[in-house]
Amino acid sequence: MNSRRNFIKNSAIAGAGIAMIPKVTFGMSTVKNEDKLKVGIIGVGLRGTNHLNNVLLRKDVLVTAICDIDPARITIALDRISKSGQKKPAVFGNNELDYRNLLDLKEVDAVIIATPWLWHTRMAKDAMKAGKYTGLEVSAANTMEECWDLVNTHEQTGSHLMILENVNYRRDILAVLNMVKQNVFGELVHFRCGYQHDLRFVKLNDGKTAYGKGVEFGEKGISESTWRTQHSLLRNADVYPTHGVGPIAAMCDINRGNRFLSLTSNATKGIGLHDYIVKNGGEDHPNAKLRFKQGDVITTTVETANGETIIVTHDCNLPRPYSLGFRVQGSNGLWEKDGNRIYIEGQSKKPHQWDDSKEWLEKYDHPLWKKYGEHAQGAGHGGMDFFVINAFVESAKQKITPPMDAYDAAAWSAITPLSELSIENNGEPQDFPDFTRGNWIKRKPYNWIKDSY
Ligand SMILES: NC(=O)c1ccc[n+]([C@@H]2O[C@H](COP(=O)([O-])OP(=O)(O)OC[C@H]3O[C@@H](n4cnc5c(N)ncnc54)[C@H](O)[C@@H]3O)[C@@H](O)[C@H]2O)c1
Repeated sequence: MNSRRNFIKNSAIAGAGIAMIPKVTFGMSTVKNEDKLKVGIIGVGLRGTNHLNNVLLRKDVLVTAICDIDPARITIALDRISKSGQKKPAVFGNNELDYRNLLDLKEVDAVIIATPWLWHTRMAKDAMKAGKYTGLEVSAANTMEECWDLVNTHEQTGSHLMILENVNYRRDILAVLNMVKQNVFGELVHFRCGYQHDLRFVKLNDGKTAYGKGVEFGEKGISESTWRTQHSLLRNADVYPTHGVGPIAAMCDINRGNRFLSLTSNATKGIGLHDYIVKNGGEDHPNAKLRFKQGDVITTTVETANGETIIVTHDCNLPRPYSLGFRVQGSNGLWEKDGNRIYIEGQSKKPHQWDDSKEWLEKYDHPLWKKYGEHAQGAGHGGMDFFVINAFVESAKQKITPPMDAYDAAAWSAITPLSELSIENNGEPQDFPDFTRGNWIKRKPYNWIKDSY
């Protein structure tokens, strides 16, 4: 899959691709249809539609197939595709397994999977088996068996899997990664990160609008409340670790000279969702009888082979402003997102006093953002969605290993089952499997600091 011949054959297309970014390319000749990457999208809910919008902006991609079991979402997607001027794609979604017919199409080179979590591994495995370059939304897997399934299927088929972790492409994250790679923080020691996002109105709604009022979920809900809430009801685990650990893993070269060794996890009581239901639906609402298993604040400490610790927080059921709570700390100093502050010994303006991070982040702005920042802004989530899709498309066109691969998808997602086990056993340490089968020792760090993708 990753042959030099393919690389040479596709490098011309790849070069053209970057030039096809909206605005940059206006007035330039377009890539011929036969040279475009043919993309199928499985799941065109809120997230899949966002990806659809982003690929439709590119002149090096054709959307040849879409799949969703909800006809309303298909209608929205077809409308977007028609307005973009592309021809009508093949449409699937007659039943939950109809995506397999999409995967049979030779007119699909690459697939983007943006379905509920329980479908992720199943669909990604089938896609890799069908020889498709596979992009998978976060989190990638729910159980340890699924983590291994992703790695094993990648190795057996030679098909690539990219976990579509967009936070790795956030502007401040890439600037801090740039600082890390330029040794500004010195030797890395400690990190903090997580998913701290009040999702009460996402997990519970009125079944009509995704972020509407109401306290329904499951069959009576809409969008993420139809599937996500069940995980809070039944699992006491950090079910969404990758927005936090993805960026940190890139900074400390996880699976490439370093790896996650073990973790411990603790959970608080879980009262937030119940409290929200009572306040908004009343004590007599049937959902007020439910007891959600997920602790409101779940704290996991991961140890790495290189002696760093990473505190990962999952905090989604209580009122709070959004923050992924990043902290990156080394022998020379640290960055903290909360407070937007940096201290580097000997370089900060005054000893023992924080600098505003703004100047530092501008100074170390990542080459990608310097080059394409203006064009990325409208893509969603402040622009990072543009870059993650750009990396996916460019890697798929060249048929090369993506920046965040099957081993990363497995190691990051493994935090879910391992945190669950640790919580169940009073915070007992749990070992990570070595998904690279020893190869982390010799795998080279990924070159994140470049301006192509
Ligand atoms: N990276 C990010 O910032 C980000 C943001 C939002 C969501 N997500 C992830 O994206 C994924 C989707 O989330 P969402 O918000 O779009 O949820 P959603 O519920 O809005 O969309 C999921 C879609 O999948 C469809 N679907 C379900 N089962 C299917 C099947 N068997 N075959 C075909 N289609 C099927 C549903 O009909 C729905 O339209 C989740 O994994 C979520 O965690 C990531």
